[in-house]
Amino acid sequence: MYIGVDYYPEHWPRERWETDAQMMQAAGFNIVRLAEFAWVNMEPQEGRFEFGWLDDALALLARYDIRAILCTPTAVMPAWVARAYPETLAMQTDGTRIVWGVRKNNCFTAGAYRLLSERITRAMAEHFKDAPNVIGWQTDNEFGNPVCHCDTCRATFQDWLRTKYGTLEALNQAWGTHFWGHSFGTWGEIQIPVDRNTHNPSACLDWQRFYSWLNVRFQRDQVQILREICPQHFVTHNLMGLFHELDYYDLAADLDFVSWDNYPVWGKPDIPYKAAEAADVMRGLKKRNFWIMEQTAGPGGWGSYGRNPRPGEIRKIAFQQVAHGADGMVWFRWRTCTAGREQYWHGLLGHDGKGLRRYQEAAQTAADLHSLSTLLEGTTVKASVALIYDYDSIWALRIQPGYAGNTYHAAVERIYAALFRAGVNVDMIKPTDDFTPYRAVFAPDLYVLPDTVARALSDYVENGGVLFCDSRTGVKDETNLCHDRTLPGLLSDALGITIEEYESLDHDWGRGLSFTYAVQGDGDLAGEYTATQTAEWVQPTTAETLATYTEWHMQPFAALTRNRFGKGWGYFLGTNIGEEAFYDRLIADILAHADVTAIATPPEGVEVSVRENGDRRLLFVLNHTETPQTVSVPAGKTELLTGQITDTTLTLDRYGVAVIQLR
Ligand code: GAL
Repeated sequence: MYIGVDYYPEHWPRERWETDAQMMQAAGFNIVRLAEFAWVNMEPQEGRFEFGWLDDALALLARYDIRAILCTPTAVMPAWVARAYPETLAMQTDGTRIVWGVRKNNCFTAGAYRLLSERITRAMAEHFKDAPNVIGWQTDNEFGNPVCHCDTCRATFQDWLRTKYGTLEALNQAWGTHFWGHSFGTWGEIQIPVDRNTHNPSACLDWQRFYSWLNVRFQRDQVQILREICPQHFVTHNLMGLFHELDYYDLAADLDFVSWDNYPVWGKPDIPYKAAEAADVMRGLKKRNFWIMEQTAGPGGWGSYGRNPRPGEIRKIAFQQVAHGADGMVWFRWRTCTAGREQYWHGLLGHDGKGLRRYQEAAQTAADLHSLSTLLEGTTVKASVALIYDYDSIWALRIQPGYAGNTYHAAVERIYAALFRAGVNVDMIKPTDDFTPYRAVFAPDLYVLPDTVARALSDYVENGGVLFCDSRTGVKDETNLCHDRTLPGLLSDALGITIEEYESLDHDWGRGLSFTYAVQGDGDLAGEYTATQTAEWVQPTTAETLATYTEWHMQPFAALTRNRFGKGWGYFLGTNIGEEAFYDRLIADILAHADVTAIATPPEGVEVSVRENGDRRLLFVLNHTETPQTVSVPAGKTELLTGQITDTTLTLDRYGVAVIQLR
């Protein structure tokens, strides 16, 4: 297993390098990521390359058995690029260009930038292709910014639309440009929709897709060069988990595997649902394990800094990711820099360069992970439950949330967190994926619903699958026009409902006009709950009602329904319930109908996850709380970190982790 740090030798005097390498080796580290922002160090003047310093660093690291991932350095353009080619700086909406001096400053359509990027990539690839300890590449850094509004971007957008739609007539129809007299007579009339709150929603969605495609194209140019010159090396990129300016499925398609940057330590300690969810999204992009390319090492911040990971937390955070499929662990960063914007983004070592507490905890983690590595090899998470994770719906809801507070991620998190608490693993999948491997599919806020996907979901239920949908399901088609059918459209039979009317309970984004409805649950969902934010006036046709509204005018409508359709079940929740317990009961009911049993039933704040292959099953148990927790586990198995044989319960210390070999 590769475990190590993001290392910037160019930030430190050469006399220090050997101490760094020694300390890394002593910590059990065997990988570093190098050269991430070092374009100017490698090409100080246009066309003049200097790789000697990096050769020396690599040779030194090799003596300590440390391998390297090199980065294409294009996330920071050298000052000479901006000066010689001002069109490479992204243009803002006011027509001015970004002032050079931060990073991610570039326009992705500027020909000069693309050529310069290809040249440094090719020069690096040629130079380092035979370096014995180079094993792979990271493209750029955290694609996703900035958005450029220059004329070249606009013209490229027009070209992209022409390729997509073929004729202007098709585009006018797809965007519904008859509204407000916005029809186009020539391609050249098409503008960049700069304001997603006021411009045509269909144009806004296509612009977002185009912007994503631009980043994917930029990366692909680099990947092609790296594959041609260094076919023996892997190519990855450091993505950002739940970040959603780009379609990560597309960005990941050109990579060997996905890596991501995990910074969960902010504010008061909490249950890290999001870090688990992000890990599952990352694993889902290529349906394979991933690396952590930047792992929290200390308080982070550019001006002010955040919380310090507490004793045990660095190890626990790393184990959470391994439990969800991380096969590589790289901490950001080795040593806290004394200069520049990230002086307060703390590494494993402080400014003083000493191997103190955080370094020692990472070393302990490395030792633990190395001890497990043979058993981990070839294992991954195999979930029987999937959650549809859809960038089109994320984007379209951002353009028109419908009700105040509606974000795709809030909807996903209500479900994801309940599945986490229930102790089941989840796969995050595309709407176009095959649903049949799963016993249950959750589709929260699946707002953009092409007919093909609706039919596939309906067939899935008919053939025995269990489907969950909620408020705002299937409102839009793929071009962001409203379907001209009664909701939930093609899912009406599978869900056994119709929705003729709906409303927002909070249309004013927190200005005090919001209201709620009381909800009464029946059977296993018995209890009183609160409907918040949204209410779809759901009329059951064939579905049974599991929860009702008590308000006089809402009594004919259902808050929650369950429908037998063919061999499967379709659930629909027409509102957002305020109480967490409701979701726990709902998930329990859905899992029971899907015949899914939990891995274990963990106490609050304890997470369970299983990695397995044909021969082995490894149960990870993680205590995210600051008090000891006792968990029921299978007896007579080996806990691999201590070598002890389990009893029927296991007590984990605060932030404690255990890995039990079930098979
Ligand atoms: C990440 C980035 C790193 C570093 C870190 C702290 O987003 O990839 O290079 O900047 O944040 O700001």
